Amino acid sequence: MHKILVTGGAGYIGSHTVLELMNSDYEVVIVDNFSNSNPKSIDGIERIVGRRPVLIEADCSDYTQMLELFKKHNDIEGIVHFAALKAVGESVEKPLSYYKNNTLSIINLLSLLREFGGKHFVFSSSCMVYGQPDILPVTELTPLKPALSPYGNTKKIGEDIIKDAVLANTNISAIALRYFNPIGAHPSTEIGELPLGKPDNLVPFITQTAAGIRPKLQIFGDDYDSSDGTAIRDYFHVMDLAKAHVLALDRLFKGSNKSNFEVFNVGAGKGVTVLEIVKAFERVSGVKLNYEIVGRRAGDPDKVWADTSLAESELGWKVKSTLEDALLTAWNWEKKVRGI
Ligand code: UD1
Repeated sequence: MHKILVTGGAGYIGSHTVLELMNSDYEVVIVDNFSNSNPKSIDGIERIVGRRPVLIEADCSDYTQMLELFKKHNDIEGIVHFAALKAVGESVEKPLSYYKNNTLSIINLLSLLREFGGKHFVFSSSCMVYGQPDILPVTELTPLKPALSPYGNTKKIGEDIIKDAVLANTNISAIALRYFNPIGAHPSTEIGELPLGKPDNLVPFITQTAAGIRPKLQIFGDDYDSSDGTAIRDYFHVMDLAKAHVLALDRLFKGSNKSNFEVFNVGAGKGVTVLEIVKAFERVSGVKLNYEIVGRRAGDPDKVWADTSLAESELGWKVKSTLEDALLTAWNWEKKVRGI
C-alpha cells in the first residue's frame, strides 16, 4: 500500500477524498489544523470504511511541524494537498494571511517531499484561475486571466510554484485539478460540508435556508446573460471529485503522466443557473425555498463551465452522479446535522 499524506483531510473535499483513497487501498495520513474543519469527520470516515486514518494535528505552513511529521512518516510516497484558507471575501481583507498560509504550505510540502524521497503531488486548484473566460466551455489551454481575489491568486501562484519546482526536480510529478463547483455529501450522511459560521457557497446556503436556520436565500443578480438572468456555474457531486484525486494519484504511480506537471478540469461540463439549482433543490427536497433577488456579488464571473474532455481521455474520469443526486445528498446531510 502506498502511504499518502492528505493535507486538510478533515475538511469538506478532503474527507470525501480520504474515504475514496482508503477504499482504493491507499494508506492515508491526514494532517489538519482544524481551522475550518471538525475532527468528527474522521469518526464519519471510520464508520464508513471500518478503519481509521492516522490523524496529525499540525499546520502545513509551519516547517518545523511538517518536518516532525515527515520524520515520523518517512515513507510518505505522495501528497494530496487541500489544506488552505479559502474564503474569497476574507482574502481581500487579510491578503497577507492568505499568501503566507497558502504558498508557504506548498513550499514546505514540496521541499519535504523531495527531501524524504516522495514522488507524487496532487494539488487542489480551482476554476477561479480562469477568471471570466472568453470562450466556453473552458479548456485547460485557455490563457489564465488576472485573479479576482487574493484567494484566487494563491491558486494561480500555487500552480506556478509547483510547476517550477517539479520541472527543476524531475523526481517529483504533479497534477493540479481545477475544480469547478463541488456540492453534495457522501450518501451515508456520515460526512459532508460543515461551513463554520455563515456559508459563502450557494448549496450550503440553500440547505440551511430550507432547514430554517436562515430566513431567506439571497440570489446575487438576475441581470446576467443567461436564460433566467442568474449566473451560470458547473456544479457536480463531491464524491465524483474525490474519485478524480484517486485517478490522478493512480496515474502518477503508474507513470502514465505525459509531463511532470499536468492540469485537468474537473466539473460536470454543464452550465446551470442559480435559479435552476433552486428549482432542482425544491423538486428533490419537496421544500419551497424562500428567496429574494439582490444585487450582484463583487468579483463573481458571469458564467463558467468546464470542458472536461482531457480528464475523460487522460484520467478516465467523468461525473457519474446527477445534479439531483448531489442536491439530495446535500439536503440529507443538512437534515442529519440539524436533527430534522
Ligand atoms: C466560489 C468561490 C470560489 C471557490 C468556489 C468553490 C467566490 C467569488 N468564489 O465560487 O473561490 O473556489 O466557490 O468553493 O466566492 N450565490 C447566490 N447566493 C448565495 C451564494 C451564491 O446567489 O448565497 C450565487 C453566486 O453568485 C454564484 C453561484 O451562486 O453565481 C455559485 O456561488 P458559489 O457557490 O459561492 O460558487 P462560486 O462563486 O462559483
